[in-house]
Amino acid sequence: MAETAFAPWNDESATPLIQFKNVTKRYGDFVAIDNLTQDIYAEEFFALLGPSGCGKTTMMRMLGGFETVTEGQILIAGQDMNNVPPNKRAVNMMFQSYALFPHLTISENIAFGLKREGKPKPEIDARVDEMLRLTRLEKFAKRKPHQISGGQRQRVALARSLAKAPKLLLLDEPLGALDKKLRQDTQFELMDIQEKTGTTFVIVTHDQEEAMTVASRVAVMDEGQIIQVATPADIYERPNSVYVADFIGDVNIINGHATRAGDGYDVTYAEGTAPLHAKTSNDLGNSAKCALAIRPEKVSITAQKPSKAANTVKGKIIDIAYLGNLSTYHVELANGQMMKAQAANTRRLERRAFTWEDSVWLSWTDTAAIVLEA
Ligand SMILES: Nc1ncnc2c1ncn2[C@@H]1O[C@H](COP(=O)(O)OP(=O)(O)OP(=O)(O)O)[C@@H](O)[C@H]1O
Ligand SMILES: [Mg+2]
Repeated sequence: MAETAFAPWNDESATPLIQFKNVTKRYGDFVAIDNLTQDIYAEEFFALLGPSGCGKTTMMRMLGGFETVTEGQILIAGQDMNNVPPNKRAVNMMFQSYALFPHLTISENIAFGLKREGKPKPEIDARVDEMLRLTRLEKFAKRKPHQISGGQRQRVALARSLAKAPKLLLLDEPLGALDKKLRQDTQFELMDIQEKTGTTFVIVTHDQEEAMTVASRVAVMDEGQIIQVATPADIYERPNSVYVADFIGDVNIINGHATRAGDGYDVTYAEGTAPLHAKTSNDLGNSAKCALAIRPEKVSITAQKPSKAANTVKGKIIDIAYLGNLSTYHVELANGQMMKAQAANTRRLERRAFTWEDSVWLSWTDTAAIVLEA
């Protein structure tokens, strides 16, 4: 599987479609993008994730040609994009604040780019119908933008940006205003469009689940820099930093001191307790301050001390969050450290084993945790 899966970033002979080369963007003294270098390959679904203000939209606007680059270079298909205006780039962008033409109907909005290209009318009509169907807007074709809802307007903007079947499509929070069900359906539509047309997508999203669902690779950003780029599974299972581990999903962080031991590290975190052990190929040297990161779903919770587990700690249940299919137990260890453990709710509520104030054991395997630089 691994060899045949889509992963051009692992192929040294593959040439990237998009290259950011030491790109810096300054607004006055403020550095919005900080010496960023990144390749994106044709037919990728590349997701940018990061807190508000970290520079996601700025990256997209520079790529689309709506913003100049202060230093460095952006190449598309090997061509330097400096001084190439937006309409001369093989790029289409759906903006975060999607500006629809208020005096045009929904159909006319979607047709706009195609008309400007001088396509024949029957071809335009067929394409617009297809886009209306795709985004489930058939009923609203004749209305004006102010006569439809916010989520519907967002779908019009998406339909308009897809209508021209661009080779490279930049989507800035394209599904933000949609409800969960429609959002998931549209995610699958986008993936389908990509498979059928070979479009390369760069998408900004605030929704981690969305990034994990659609992306070939996820870039996690902070303050104008990309902290890690990896497949969704690697971002989740092998974050390169506390920042990324903490940003994606829920995680327990135990700060301690790592000493090399066998196939990994022993981590001491509190006086009078046995060290925790983690297998790892991460290299922190012989001895270093560290952060141990463990996902709550990898932590087991039991009444008796498990005999076999590599890591066991004792604690008391402080809080239980009932999530329907799962419960998250908030457990305080003897040193005051809080940990979360998640367990599937396979039994009915009244037969559950644990409640508040119970003494419990938490345990996890030696491969469940990763050791990160503190
Ligand atoms: N024209 C501008 N002049 C000055 N500063 C700007 C300008 N445009 C953006 N910035 C700043 O650059 C930083 C990055 O902005 P950007 O819009 O790229 O953030 P973002 O990651 O898209 O955030 P959000 O998730 O909120 O959309 C922000 O701190 C923003 O205030
Ligand atoms: Mg933005």
